[in-house]
Amino acid sequence: MFERRREVRIRPGGMATDVLTRLVHPPRVTVVDSPTVPPLYASTTYSTEALDRIDDVLGGREAGFQYSRQGNPTVAALEGALADLEEASWAVVVASGMAAIAAALEAAVPPGATVLAAEELYGATDGLLTRWRDRGRITLARASVGSQGAFLDAIARERPAVVFVESASNPLLRVADVPALADAVHRVQGRLVVDNTFLSPLVLAPVASGADVVVESLTKFVGGHGDVTAGVVAGVDPALGRAVLAHRTHAGAAASPFDAWLAARGLKTLGLRLERQMASAAALAARLAAAGIATWYPGLASHPDHATAARLWRGGFGALLSVDLAGGRPAVEAAWRAFRLWGRGTTLGDVESLALYPAVASHRGLSPEERAARGIGPGLLRLSVGIEAVDDLWGDLAMALGVPRRPNAVP
Ligand SMILES: Cc1ncc(COP(=O)(O)O)c(C=O)c1O
Repeated sequence: MFERRREVRIRPGGMATDVLTRLVHPPRVTVVDSPTVPPLYASTTYSTEALDRIDDVLGGREAGFQYSRQGNPTVAALEGALADLEEASWAVVVASGMAAIAAALEAAVPPGATVLAAEELYGATDGLLTRWRDRGRITLARASVGSQGAFLDAIARERPAVVFVESASNPLLRVADVPALADAVHRVQGRLVVDNTFLSPLVLAPVASGADVVVESLTKFVGGHGDVTAGVVAGVDPALGRAVLAHRTHAGAAASPFDAWLAARGLKTLGLRLERQMASAAALAARLAAAGIATWYPGLASHPDHATAARLWRGGFGALLSVDLAGGRPAVEAAWRAFRLWGRGTTLGDVESLALYPAVASHRGLSPEERAARGIGPGLLRLSVGIEAVDDLWGDLAMALGVPRRPNAVP
């Protein structure tokens, strides 16, 4: 209840008497006890009495908030939580995963320098790098994380300013050996930037494993409910952190405070969600493989990077897997139409299980030949496992893929 008291003034001195002014300047409620949930600060600007302080905050000499594109308390609270989880000394939250990738590269790659990028990359990252190459912004070299020796050779040969890899690649879940890559790139005075979107900091903290910068789409596992678009860049070198922050300010890549608030809420259940999602993904991968379907899942001994994932990852093998259907696109189309429970979507990491067809979604920018060269055939279907009951997920998947239903026959 708000109780009007004599001493409550609209402004010191009680200047405003007209209702039109009072609409804009209502009495303020002072909160003296701390809320258990950090508030959502939607305010674009902050009122400050001392002009010197405004100058110092905007000039980066003092901590504080003046304008939401430059800094916002809700976004900053999320940055604190993520820096801690990523074992980084700074974190900058931005408008999307792609904004995070652009900010990290903008900060770390001097004009004209060489970027050595994994061949296995999310389509939009591929698009950004090839566009920068075509405009003369960078020299772009490529190597496959699928062949570690060739990748290390490429680092020694190209001496790149930046190596960019995904910790688990999209969609075949090829595993980057982050400590080995970090050692090799540091030997040539370069930096390692890792996109950790498929794993989240709970499974791998790339900076703690030697990477210079981690980027992550918070739209995926951290948000977790399909209602957030945001990203984060985190690292250890303070100069790089300042450069990322400057990019956010100048490119206008600030995250919305509401998205930051939702992502912070998502973090609280990330552990519980991932535990269930990873256990279900492992069970589904085992059942698919037992049914004779070609299955890409790093938790399976048949995955080419199983040993690397087992050595580097914590708590499980992620919640994504891909199947390669022998019937090609017609088999994918049939499964797509048949799904009753699995969602059809273009994202991952949600509480809801989602299927994605890379050929028309994440990897639509590549020609069929380029996709084939990356191992993405017409029958490849990516599955992001949610938190539903695993037997329901298996029942729907088995039905959609035409697997005879024998629920007790396999793990
Ligand atoms: C591996 C990876 N990195 C980055 C992104 C981009 O994230 P966002 O959609 O939040 O920009 C995605 C999106 O799917 C992704 O799969």
